[in-house]
Amino acid sequence: MNDAFQRKINYLRISITDRCNLRCVYCMPEEGVELSNHEEILSHEEILRVINSAVMVGIRKIRFTGGEPLVRKGITSLIERVNEIPEIDDIALTTNGLLLPKMAVELKKAGLKRVNISLDTLSPEKFRRITRGGRLSEAWLGVETALEVGFDPVKINAVVIRSFNDNEVYDFAQLTAKMPLNVRFIELMPIGVSDLRGRDSFMATAELIEMLQNRYDLVPEKVAGNGPAKSYRIPGAMGTIGFISPISNHFCADCNRLRLTAEGQLRPCLQSPQEIDLKTPLRGGASPEELAQVIRLAISSKPEKHNMEQAGWAGNRRCMPQIGG
Ligand code: GTP
Ligand code: 5AD
Ligand code: SF4
Repeated sequence: MNDAFQRKINYLRISITDRCNLRCVYCMPEEGVELSNHEEILSHEEILRVINSAVMVGIRKIRFTGGEPLVRKGITSLIERVNEIPEIDDIALTTNGLLLPKMAVELKKAGLKRVNISLDTLSPEKFRRITRGGRLSEAWLGVETALEVGFDPVKINAVVIRSFNDNEVYDFAQLTAKMPLNVRFIELMPIGVSDLRGRDSFMATAELIEMLQNRYDLVPEKVAGNGPAKSYRIPGAMGTIGFISPISNHFCADCNRLRLTAEGQLRPCLQSPQEIDLKTPLRGGASPEELAQVIRLAISSKPEKHNMEQAGWAGNRRCMPQIGG
């Protein structure tokens, strides 16, 4: 279905839990976020009902997010069941990778096609700092396992933070020389409550591209996906480098997505606090068509674009793990 701005909405991002086994400083405050009770979170049956109705309005691509989606029990069987829905042609997952060594084989068997792994630094010490205690070796094993089991493509999400990891762009670029990874540099967005609030941490894509072009040719390249990344390859490299620029060059005109929070609220836009309650009709026995009608309403109320620049960190009462990134 098209929204009010003639954008075709065919991608649903579903946060299946607000829990996470890391505590990244740009994502949540040190004390964590207030977690939902188990009963408040949509069950797998409810998520499947949403997907079946979403298919009726034209959704074809599903991404599971969190929090950390792999900490949610039963995700493998959920994926298996989504894989049985013929209209869905892409199932993907955004994860921090820690649980992939344990789960990648079963996820692949269940029908998961590809994973995006959040990894902001290649330094064990900095990894510990940015994640407040995580171990790089575990996340890295997740990346290696993802490649070994044949997820394709395997993408790395690195949020660029000035004075923290901006000096690692060449290391990340080198990684693509020898590994078939799509490394994406992401501009920091002012969302939720974060320790980076108020600091001069933002770094625009143009500056990174300039740094990289001082050393390498960047040849535009198409990488499979439904998101806003623009990708390039260094000639001869096995992998590619992508840029996601929500602030300096927002991609809202091409927005193709709707979000579902773990608590069953539809979010027409990542940034806008507007939400449409899907849980009440779900739990009130709504029919598939009635649920589809609520989803249509959410699509038709999508804003034209975000206003992160004006709203800043104050613009959103929810943190990333509650929205799903
Ligand atoms: P594919 O291209 O399909 O692989 O996925 P993706 O890039 O859409 O998903 P991913 O979850 O890996 O998101 C990468 C980055 O893009 C994260 O920082 C997200 O928060 C950001 N992002 C994803 N969707 C949106 C969006 O609709 N708006 C904005 N502003 N940022 C988004
Ligand atoms: N700005 C940009 N990207 C973010 N992510 C989480 N918080 C932010 C933020 N404030 C990224 C994570 C993950 C994806 C879902 O969103 O690193 O890769
Ligand atoms: Fe779409 Fe909102 Fe993301 Fe812009 S910020 S691309 S309108 S979800």
